[in-house]
Order: sequence, then C-alpha cells, then structure tokens
Amino acid sequence: MCGIAGYIGNRNAPEILFDMLRRLEYRGYDSAGIAYLSKGKVVISKGKGRVDEVRRNSKNGDSSIGIAHTRWATHGGPSHENSHPHTDCNFRFTIVHNGIIENYKDLKQELVSEGHRFSSETDTEVIPHLIEKFYSGNFEKAFVESVKKLRGSFAVAAIDPEEPEKILVARKESPLIIGIGKNENFIASDTPAILPETKKIIILDDFDYGIIGKDDVVIKDLQTGDRIKREIQTIDWDIKQAEKEGYEHFMLKEIYEEPDAVKNALKGSNEIREIAKRISKYQKVYFVACGTASYAGMVGKYILERFGISSEAVVASEFRYSTVNAIDNNSVIIAVSQSGETADTIASVKEAKKRGAHIISVVNVVGSSLTRISDGNIYTYSGPEIAVASTKAYIGQLVSVTLIALFIALERGKITGDYVNEILHDLNGIPEKIGHILKNENEIRKIAEKLFKKDIFFYIGRRLNYPTVLEGALKIKEISYVHAEAYPAGEMKHGPLALLEEGVPVIAILPNDDLAEKMESNIQEAKARNATVILVSETGDLKVPPVDPLLSPILYIVPLHLLAYHISVLRGIDPDKPRNLAKSVTVE
Ligand code: M6R
Repeated sequence: MCGIAGYIGNRNAPEILFDMLRRLEYRGYDSAGIAYLSKGKVVISKGKGRVDEVRRNSKNGDSSIGIAHTRWATHGGPSHENSHPHTDCNFRFTIVHNGIIENYKDLKQELVSEGHRFSSETDTEVIPHLIEKFYSGNFEKAFVESVKKLRGSFAVAAIDPEEPEKILVARKESPLIIGIGKNENFIASDTPAILPETKKIIILDDFDYGIIGKDDVVIKDLQTGDRIKREIQTIDWDIKQAEKEGYEHFMLKEIYEEPDAVKNALKGSNEIREIAKRISKYQKVYFVACGTASYAGMVGKYILERFGISSEAVVASEFRYSTVNAIDNNSVIIAVSQSGETADTIASVKEAKKRGAHIISVVNVVGSSLTRISDGNIYTYSGPEIAVASTKAYIGQLVSVTLIALFIALERGKITGDYVNEILHDLNGIPEKIGHILKNENEIRKIAEKLFKKDIFFYIGRRLNYPTVLEGALKIKEISYVHAEAYPAGEMKHGPLALLEEGVPVIAILPNDDLAEKMESNIQEAKARNATVILVSETGDLKVPPVDPLLSPILYIVPLHLLAYHISVLRGIDPDKPRNLAKSVTVE
C-alpha cells in the first residue's frame, strides 16, 4: 500500500531515491515520483507507471536531499496529478504519504474556502496545504500542527527548500523506519529499501515524529513535543535476499527458498515451546489473519482439532466486527501475518486486546506493528518476501503454526513427548523433500502449458489440505487472473459439480492418509463429468514425496505454487506485480 523513501547526505539523492523505490515497488506500482531540493527550489519528477518508466522520463538532477513515493491508488486513479510527491499552492512544502487521511474531505473543504488550490483527487494533498496554512517561520512547528489535524493512518515525509538540512517525518499506523548511515540517513516504509545502504535502523512508533539531518536523527512525541529515545536495531537480513539473483522473478526465487523457510521457522522451536506453556491454559484459541496467512491459521486449527482441542480460524476482516464479540480473558489470539502491517489483522488484535485476550503473533517482519502490540511473537525468519504473492512466507507460517499447535497439545496432555519428537524429526526432513518437488519444475511447467488457456479451475482437498486448495486457488487468481474455486472435496456434490464439464481442470490433493479412499471417490465424481483431473499425490501428475499426513500441507502446496507461477508467466503476466494488488494491505 504505497512505499515512501527519503535520503539526506552527501551523495546524489535522485539516484539513491529511485534505487530505493525499485526495492519498495512491491508495495504499489501504479505510479511513482521523487522530489529533491536544488538551488533553493523543489524539483519533482513523477507520473503514472512503474518506477523505471518514471525514472527514464525524469530530468537528471544533483541534490543531497529528497523524498520519494511508489503508489497503490486509493483516492483518485493512477495519473500524473495523483502521483506523489504533492506540494502546496507555492510549490514549496513537498510531501509523500502512505496511509489514508479519513477526514481529508472536511480538511480540503476548509482549505479550499480559505483560497488553497488543489491539483489532485488525493487525500494526501491536504497535508502540504495544511503546512502552508500553519507556517509562520518554523517548518517543524507547521508540520507538527498539520499532522495533528489528520485522522486515519499515515507515514509522511516532508521537505522545505528554505530549510534544506532536514527531512521531517511522522507516523501513525503506517510503517516507517529510519536507516542510519555515516554522514547520511535514509527513511523508508520497509527494510528492503535500505538494505544495500545500512543495516542500522530505528523503527518509529505511532505518534512519533522525526527531524532527520545528515548527521543526526531526533525523534519527538507528536502530542507533547518531548524528545524520545528510540533504540537503533541491527537487521540481520542480507541484501542478496532482496535481489533476484538470476531468477526471472522474485516469486520463483522465493519458491526456491521454501526449503530454507522451513529450516528458518524451525529455529523458533524453543521460543514456541515456551509460548505454548503460557497459552495452553486459555480455553478459546482463535487464529486470525488475512489471505494466505489465514490459510496457515486454518491449518493450525485443523491440527488442534486433530488432537481434540477446539479452535477457530477467522479472517481478520470478519473477526474484527463479529467473532470479537465472543472474546474475553479466556481467549488467546494467534495472529498470523507476513508483514505484520495488515490493517484488518492489527485492528482485530487491538479489539481482542480491549476484551482481555492474550495475543501471540506469528510474523515474518521483525519490529513490525503487529509485533509491538502482541504479548508474544513467533518469528518465521523467512527473510524479505518481495513478490506480491506470498509463497515462502506461507511455508514458514505453516511450520510455526504446526509447532504451536503441537506444543499446546503437549501442554494439555493430548499427545506425548515422543510423538512430538517424531514430528520434529519429520519436520527436519521436509526441506529435502521440498527440494525433490522443485527438481520436478519442468514437469510442472509442462502441465501448466496444457492448462494455461483455461478460464476456470477447481481445487479440491480435504481436512488439513482444504486450506492447501484455498491457497492454491488464491495464488492462481491473484497472479493469473483466472477464476478458481477451492472446495472441500466432499462439498462438490452439493452444488459446484454442476460447473464441471469436459476439460475443466480439477486439481485434486490426495495425500496418503485415512481419507484417501473418500478423496478417490470425489476424484471419480469429477472424472465422470469429463473434467481434467490433475492429481497431486505420491504417484500423481504432480508428485509429492511421502510425508506424515500432519505435515502434508507444507509439501502439497509447493507444486501448486509452481503451477500458479508458470500459468501466470505463460499468460504473459508479471507474477511479481499483479494488477490491483499490493504486498502489504495497510488499509481496511
Ligand atoms: O502480510 P500479511 O501476511 O498479513 O498479508 C496477508 C494477505 O494480504 C496476503 O497473504 C495476500 O493474500 C497475498 N497476496 C497472497 O499471496
């Protein structure tokens, strides 16, 4: 949902800003822009299109301070006018913003009645005009006064040609970090943007604002104006993790990192065991998440149920308005999120907290908003995930929810330590098994070649692999733009079978478990309607090595990720940046 960046130092700001934007492009890619200060003036290059396109069309500039933005449109479609940066009436105060200003209509009306001239349809443009309105010789004061007027969410950065030695920033509910360099500093919505430049970061908290100079960073409280000390943290991500390293797309690279995602998530085992001890006393367990992460939550629920522990898995956009009414101090919420910034998930957690629930988050991005409002965090350590379609992060989430469910069951005396050790042993063997599936990529591509022109897909599975088919279908929808339905196999005869006819692809998950015979019958039902069944099993069209059924979701999703990837590429789509979507959904 939009990415913002900023640079101040001795190097060439426009070059650095465009490089940073490219690494933030996964957050939004319908338009982009930069603003820098040169000879006492603001220079802006912006427009509709991808970062590289805007870069090609921009004038070369020399400057040591600037801000930048890559956009995922909310208010006003993608256009030159709606692209950031935005300025006031006199092209002086210049800002970039990520988030949504909920009271922008009222503010705009007031500003227009006072004579301010607007040039975009965005909510953002009220900010530079507010700064212009409140300015009486002090940029910082006007900035703070303006930001205090905003309702909603924001990460904002502003520059003023009259005070070229600083960038002002502020945040509420939208991520913002400051990268600390030597005689230079950076600002960004997310870590990948600054990875090649520095590993030292300060994560701003809600209602923090900052004055960023080239040699110093001052953080203050927006409400009181008091100076605050925020710790400098060191990121352990490697720059290589945020680069394609020869792969055609980030998505493919990230699928190939799925074996490592298992190993990395397993590193959290001891912490997870401790957390399980704390939360096993709570009688109500809820997994809350959005999109792909919600399917990992469903797997957690199925595992707990298998051990006789009831739990619910609810998508956060529903949980926050409905399930939350059933939450009390006997509830534990396990929130799952790659980014830790998803608005609905964060809102659900906040609502549940108000009602006394204990909050545990399964998160990839260390220091993200969700981690700071949770009572305990389980990190998946999957490294940066750049492609919009989540792949390796899902694998990491599956490992973490499997572990938490196992350890809760152990604490409650539902399973034995020996059984847990057996599963842990099997989990250690999963990376190698994923490796075997990846070696079959060519076979999977051949199946994609047969299927890529189809305009409807069915995915069927049962129990623990019902979430697998939901994830498989979501993946193909989001990066191939084809209609895909995921069904619990036993439900097909209650309606969807009517849609099956000759050639309709049905991707069927058939693990070697006690439901295999029932699954076989469902497959026969599809075949009897002349559907093209693609069997995912130990001996099927998409082959998966033998695995304990409890761990089957971690293996069976891998060929579905590759299948979706190849279908997307064959359809001529960029799987890393599907239309209408953004990686991190920080608006409701
Ligand atoms: O960062 P999160 O895990 O909270 O994101 C949740 C969803 O937005 C995300 O999984 C989305 O569904 C992906 N694009 C799916 O590939």
